[in-house]
Amino acid sequence: MKGIILAGGTGSRLAPLTEMVNKHLLPVGRHPMISYGINRLKEAGITDILLIISKQSAGLYTQFLGSGSTYGVRLTYRIQDAAGGIADALELARHYVQPQEKFVVLLGDNLFVDDLGPIVQEYLKQPYGTAKVLLKQVDDPHRYGVPEFDPHDPEAILHIEEKPQHPKSDFCVTGIYMYDTSVFELIDGIVPSARGELEITDVNNRYAEQKALSYGILEQYWVDAGTFDSLEEAGLQMKNLLP
Ligand code: DAU
Repeated sequence: MKGIILAGGTGSRLAPLTEMVNKHLLPVGRHPMISYGINRLKEAGITDILLIISKQSAGLYTQFLGSGSTYGVRLTYRIQDAAGGIADALELARHYVQPQEKFVVLLGDNLFVDDLGPIVQEYLKQPYGTAKVLLKQVDDPHRYGVPEFDPHDPEAILHIEEKPQHPKSDFCVTGIYMYDTSVFELIDGIVPSARGELEITDVNNRYAEQKALSYGILEQYWVDAGTFDSLEEAGLQMKNLLP
């Protein structure tokens, strides 16, 4: 099984820091943000990892991470030329994976403590054409993609709403996704949102419509480190996670 970390985008909420360096190279505790996702995948036994990065700081990534050997992983890099959205970034992984292969996708600014290993093993039992998302209970769901559960089947997500004014649950869809190559056909079928991006939420909603979307719940600390407050908090919380 392969891993894909999406580390493109502009990081505009962290300007002016992100005018100097790509968001995922900013320090979190004693390491750059990107190191945590690589480590979580390695811990889950995933050692073939594709990093989708932007042109900004591309040289710094290769300088710092190299082949990945110091992390015990094999890194491949692809450039997303412009920030066309999360699904646009994921599309760049189309030829990295084999037909029907399953893989884990992490958003590079999502930092977490849970071990993905058992969750990944559960996903591997799902049939082709199905996906899994990981949820976290949060105080501020309106900042994220928010699932609406089926009142007749609590195991099923009916629909996900991206940054809703009136969230239908107090869970957020984290940036930890599990797909197989069916995701690329779904990406082909979506169009840019009002903000001009190919939204991963639109892709996940296609799976939900087909009753092909399962979910797991993160039990331990999780943060989307994309704002100054959450970046600062992440630094304190994650400080001792990596040696
Ligand atoms: O953190 C979880 C949330 O992440 C989800 O709940 C939302 O459903 C999902 O849309 C996303 O929301 P954000 O507004 O936080 O996404 P953001 O634009 O900050 O992008 C998150 C990561 O995705 C970022 O660290 C890098 C990657 N990315 C993003 C864009 C727009 C790319 O690689 N390329 C892109 O073009």
